[in-house]
Amino acid sequence: MHLPDLNVAKDRTKKENIYIDLNENYNKVFSNKKYFLRTYGCQMNVHDSEQIRHYLETLGLKSTDKIEEANIVVLNTCAIRENARDKVVGFLGKCKYLKKNHEDFKIILTGCMSEQPDFIELIQKKHPYVDVVIGTHNIHQLPKLLINNNPKQDIEVYSNSDEVIENIQYARDSKISAWVNIMFGCDKFCTYCIVPYTRGRERSRKPEEIIKEVKDLKKNGYKEVTLLGQNVNAYGKDIGEKFSDLLEKVAQTGIERIRFVTSHPWNFTDEMIDVIAKYKNIMPYIHLPIQSGSNEILKRMNRRYTKEEYLELFNKMKKKINNVSITTDIIVGFPGETDKDFQETLDVVRKCEFDGAYTFIFSPREGTPAAKMKDNISLKEKEKRLHELNEVVNYYANKSNQKLLNKTLDVLVTGVSDKDNNKLCGYTEGMKLVNISGPKDIIGSIVKIKITDAKSFSLDGEYVDER
Ligand code: SAH
Ligand code: SF4
Ligand code: F3S
Repeated sequence: MHLPDLNVAKDRTKKENIYIDLNENYNKVFSNKKYFLRTYGCQMNVHDSEQIRHYLETLGLKSTDKIEEANIVVLNTCAIRENARDKVVGFLGKCKYLKKNHEDFKIILTGCMSEQPDFIELIQKKHPYVDVVIGTHNIHQLPKLLINNNPKQDIEVYSNSDEVIENIQYARDSKISAWVNIMFGCDKFCTYCIVPYTRGRERSRKPEEIIKEVKDLKKNGYKEVTLLGQNVNAYGKDIGEKFSDLLEKVAQTGIERIRFVTSHPWNFTDEMIDVIAKYKNIMPYIHLPIQSGSNEILKRMNRRYTKEEYLELFNKMKKKINNVSITTDIIVGFPGETDKDFQETLDVVRKCEFDGAYTFIFSPREGTPAAKMKDNISLKEKEKRLHELNEVVNYYANKSNQKLLNKTLDVLVTGVSDKDNNKLCGYTEGMKLVNISGPKDIIGSIVKIKITDAKSFSLDGEYVDER
């Protein structure tokens, strides 16, 4: 068993590219069985779940959303916030009960929690009925572990692995829009964040492998790719490549829409802005987390930029990229955040008029520097700040949506609306969600939609038939 070491960011000494193919002997050995998969985390986890599903389905398992029917339950966990653990442990209680009455029932834990040593210890001591814990670096070992069928608890977690896995196959959720990992890990070590500990050091895939994947997706009818990395624009530093060059090469494949998340302001270069501005198929949408508007807090967060530098970058993007939408992430109640610091955050939101923002109350993560910082703000005060921030954020999100009213926009129609089954849904180039009145056969196409109503979180629109 390899236990992760929370405190050491190991140097990268060697790097291996591993190619994996599921041995055909693995095919269908679990026919007639069912799996239940729950994903808790970010896009990275959602995409990892597509990999897990590929393995399970290649082994012959069928998906079920009724856990009582399942033979294999996989929980793909997230560790970004403290309360997430209670939810997973609560769910494990249910699994334990089901397992008692079900002789053919396996419980698999993966995702970012499985990279936390104290979580592994908890599972070993208190939850021995969990069959497999598998880390975020070695999901490709899942088929092997399932076939081995070890009667004892298997813990396979490779922390800080240098491996870059290529040729991963996915059972993708969508046939229209696909996630494409371009790098793994994060080296930023923002003081509040657990991700560098759970996802390891930054490691980039080779550009030719990424391009091959995008070309294959295009050939298979995909309209959109979203390049994924915790720090997506830091791509290539470890292999002597540049994100701007990669973006350009992806644009030249001719795939209709390209997006990328999440960008770190510190790594955003003028070259990247120029490439985004140059290619029509690179969407004018940038998710650019600011986290705080206070320079003092930004410093203690180890974000490596000031409010002024962020604003300069933001304004450059707005100037150079036609109709760009910019969204952000913000944390309130970071240890020691004064009301003055918070006012700086509100100020930056007012100056940027973001198209949207994900807002969070600071959550101390054990093992990170911020968890040890003195935090003297009450939860009540933090909640008050969050509420106030959300009002300002929503005001500007609504304002930016109102500007689109009565306009006719290009929308990629992705499916049937969650809220109203008689409607379709899709996304504008600027990543605004649109609920659409139109015929079902436009699903999967980029079509003209006239915007008829604008709210804070979505737009309504009508299909403009040009056929
Ligand atoms: N790599 C991305 C996403 C990180 S997680 C990035 O750098 O932006 C997504 C968001 O969760 C972060 O941007 C941050 O706003 C929030 N977050 C991360 N750790 C947190 C913590 N300990 N408490 C509260 N919010 C946190
Ligand atoms: Fe976390 Fe910062 Fe890395 Fe984002 S850039 S994943 S917030 S450490
Ligand atoms: Fe959560 Fe891990 Fe993503 S901690 S946010 S699932 S990288």
